[in-house]
Amino acid sequence: MQDQHAWSGRFSEPVSELVKKYTASVGFDYRLAEFDIEGSLAHAAMLGRAGVLSADDLAAIRRGMAEIVEEIRAGRFEWRLDLEDVHMNIERRLTDKIGDAGKRLHTGRSRNDQVATDIRLWLRAQIDTIAGLIGELKGSLLDLAEQHADTVMPGFTHLQVAQPVTFGHHLLAYVEMLSRDAERMADCRRRVNRLPLGAAALAGTTFPIDRHYTAELLGFDGVCHNSLDAVSDRDFAIEFTAAASLLMVHLSRLSEELILWMSPRVGFIDIADRFCTGSSIMPQKKNPDVPELVRGKSGRVVGHLVSLVTLMKAQPLAYNKDNQEDKEPLFDTVDTLIDTLRIYADMMRGITVKPEAMRAAVLQGFATATDLADYLVKKGLPFRDSHEVVALAVRHAEGQGVDLAELPLAVLQGFSALIGDDVYAVLSPEGSLAQRDHVGGTAPARVRAEIGRHRAQQGA
Ligand code: ARG
Repeated sequence: MQDQHAWSGRFSEPVSELVKKYTASVGFDYRLAEFDIEGSLAHAAMLGRAGVLSADDLAAIRRGMAEIVEEIRAGRFEWRLDLEDVHMNIERRLTDKIGDAGKRLHTGRSRNDQVATDIRLWLRAQIDTIAGLIGELKGSLLDLAEQHADTVMPGFTHLQVAQPVTFGHHLLAYVEMLSRDAERMADCRRRVNRLPLGAAALAGTTFPIDRHYTAELLGFDGVCHNSLDAVSDRDFAIEFTAAASLLMVHLSRLSEELILWMSPRVGFIDIADRFCTGSSIMPQKKNPDVPELVRGKSGRVVGHLVSLVTLMKAQPLAYNKDNQEDKEPLFDTVDTLIDTLRIYADMMRGITVKPEAMRAAVLQGFATATDLADYLVKKGLPFRDSHEVVALAVRHAEGQGVDLAELPLAVLQGFSALIGDDVYAVLSPEGSLAQRDHVGGTAPARVRAEIGRHRAQQGA
């Protein structure tokens, strides 16, 4: 005999096979199973305390759920498509095991507040994992930045050599981005961490529930204060995916740089072989596949953000089945982010830096031209005039095929009589760096101070 659905009493014919498949979510929401059980146990405990469930029923539910958890962990649980979703699968299994007590579990609850609770519990755990992984990646960037607090490289604007910076300073820019990403995750977690249970289908329930007690059992910071909102909005998932998108965009930018730096035309770094692949036809190739994929996968996560926002856009209050579509984008966002963060922390430890190539690029690009202009300003020349003087000097040096620092004093003095032999201290990349000695500047001492500040915050 065809198994009856939890709601089939009202219907005169079963749904078609196609509809069954189309509407089922168990193929993906099985991932919520342990959180579903955790939520059910808290709900049951609350009902027990309120006198809605007997002590015997509560004990039976706990025993049955413990067995189900074991079955799931051992891969012995049989997920049934005809039971639609993770919630009905678990409830049915519980009822098979313990009888009527299993059917009483759903008192004062609906799948609508149940699923909203499950997703929040699941997402909260994922955010905690992600926070730890961001910390690890920051740690590996800080280690590399420390090794290269003095390493000169060209800083770019418009991808043209602009001014010298240290490689450590450059890496710290990404540490800053990741720090904000971690803040966004922590902030988002506060809004994820509220309890929908008790909203029931949409209007609350007639049973004497204690939502604060359920919230406390589940470690929520508070309850959702409107039942219609609690079961219907997925803004917390959208917010998380937005934070995840920004994080992926930051890693995509770093990836783009790694790819560029590893190109033989630039040659600033090498990436360990275990993160690269070869070509099946060109024996000389070593391709930076991992950063390329990170760059590619950032598009995928941004796509999930667009999916979720669009999913929410036209939904009237309260719950609609549309919301079942929240899971796959959210799950894939988390999976992609976690894998990416893990691989990235390891990859940054496998980078070989080539300081000679970085320094040579600084010297080729007249990177200290601004330093010469600042030098002349300090000697009394208005900035616009000194800009002009230096532009002429650069043009001359370019014609000679030499750097500014290689022009003899007499030649430099031909552009401005204000130039003295102390000019060479500012024309060297190291001189240029040392002078940018303020909070946020690239002077090696400042870079070391920032590394210390980040480390102290991470330790805290
Ligand atoms: N599988 C559903 C979801 O993911 C659970 C809630 C279904 N509720 C309902 N009344 N059909 O959203």
